[in-house]
Amino acid sequence: MTVLKRFFLGALACLFVSLPAPGHAGQPDWSKVSVTRVILFYPGVTSWEFLTSDDHRLGGREIKRTSKDCKHCHLSKDGELDLKVDEIASGSIRMKRSHNAFEPEPTPGKKGTMRAAVSAAYDEEFLYFRFEWDSRGSGWLGKPGGIPDRVSVQINKAEPAFRKYGCFITCHNDLNTMPESPSVKVVAGDRFYKSRERDDVRLYAYYAKSSWSDKKSDAELGKLLKEGARIDLVSIEFINGKSLLDEGWVFDDRVLERKAAADSPGSFTAGKYAAVFKRRLVTGDPHSVSLKPGDVFSIGVAIHEDGASKRKHYVSFPMSVGLGTSADIKAERVSR
Ligand code: HEC
Repeated sequence: MTVLKRFFLGALACLFVSLPAPGHAGQPDWSKVSVTRVILFYPGVTSWEFLTSDDHRLGGREIKRTSKDCKHCHLSKDGELDLKVDEIASGSIRMKRSHNAFEPEPTPGKKGTMRAAVSAAYDEEFLYFRFEWDSRGSGWLGKPGGIPDRVSVQINKAEPAFRKYGCFITCHNDLNTMPESPSVKVVAGDRFYKSRERDDVRLYAYYAKSSWSDKKSDAELGKLLKEGARIDLVSIEFINGKSLLDEGWVFDDRVLERKAAADSPGSFTAGKYAAVFKRRLVTGDPHSVSLKPGDVFSIGVAIHEDGASKRKHYVSFPMSVGLGTSADIKAERVSR
C-alpha cells in the first residue's frame, strides 16, 4: 500500500458508447443508456474476519469503527486500484501478522483484475441492469455439467456496512471452501443445516450470525429484517449455450432459486458476455429492497469466469446506484 487516496464520484470513468441495437422484448433501448466501466478484482480468501483484524493493520481499525470505506483506501480518484491483487492471485503474498496465505491454491496464469461495463435503467415498474465483459466464454461454450460462468449482484439500500464494504460483509473464514470451513459431517449434523438438508456453509451477513453455527433469536432476526438488513441477490449463469436466472437473498444464510425466465437473460457473442437483470421496483416481498425514483442504493458484483467456482471469483467494491440521480452508477429513466 502506498498513499491512501480519496475516492471521488468521478472515480469510475463514464463512457458513452453505442451498444447493439434495441429489440430484446421487455428491455430498455440500451443504446440510449450510459455505460460505467468498473474494476473487479481477485480477493483470494480475503474475509470479513481478515478485514476486521490486525492482519489488515490500519484497514482493520477503520472498519471496526465503520468509518472509512474500502474505496477510500484502495481506489484512486482516477479509478486505479491500489491493492496487491496480482500477488494475491499468484499466491505470492501472505497476511502481515498471521502469515496466512491470501490464496492457498493459486490458479496458474490468473490475473488480479478484470473490467466490466455496467448500465442501469428504470421505468415505472422495473429496474434493469446490464453487465458486459470480455471472456473466452468457457461456460457458454462448455459441456452440460461443466463449470458455468456467472455474474451475481448483491443489492441493499439500508445497511451502512453494506454501503461501505459491500459483499465483504458476507464473506467469512468458515464458509464452504474458505480456510476454516468446518467438515461436511460436522455441518450436516448441525440443527440449522440438518433442517435444510445441507452440509455446506454459505454466505451470511456478519450481523445476522456471528459464526456458521450461531443462531440468533427470531426476534433479533425479525428486527434486522424490518430494518432492511437482508441483502437481495440475483445471478445469471452461462452454461452450454444457455443463460439461466437465479434469485434469492443473503441474510443468516444464502438462498438462491432458479427462475424460469421468459426471455433469455444473457448471451455470449463476439468474445463478450452480456447479462440483463430485470427486477420490479417494488417486489411484494416485505424484506426485499423496495425502490422509487430518487433513491440511492448499493450493489456489489461478483463474476465467476473461465472455470472458476465457489470462492474463486472476481468481486467489486460496493457501488452506489441512483434512480435518476447521480451516484457511481446512474440508472436512467426510460420509457417502456
Ligand atoms: C483505512 C484504510 C483502509 C480501509 C478502509 C480498507 N483497507 Fe484494506 N488495507 C489497508 C492497508 C494500509 C493495507 C496494507 C496492510 C499492510 O500490509 O500493512 C491493506 C491491505 C488490504 C489487502 C491485502 C492486499 C494488499 O494490497 O496489501 C486487502 C485484500 C484489502 N486491504 C482489502 C480491503 C477491503 C476489501 C476493504 C473494505 C472492506 C478494505 N481493504 C478497507 C487499508 C485499508
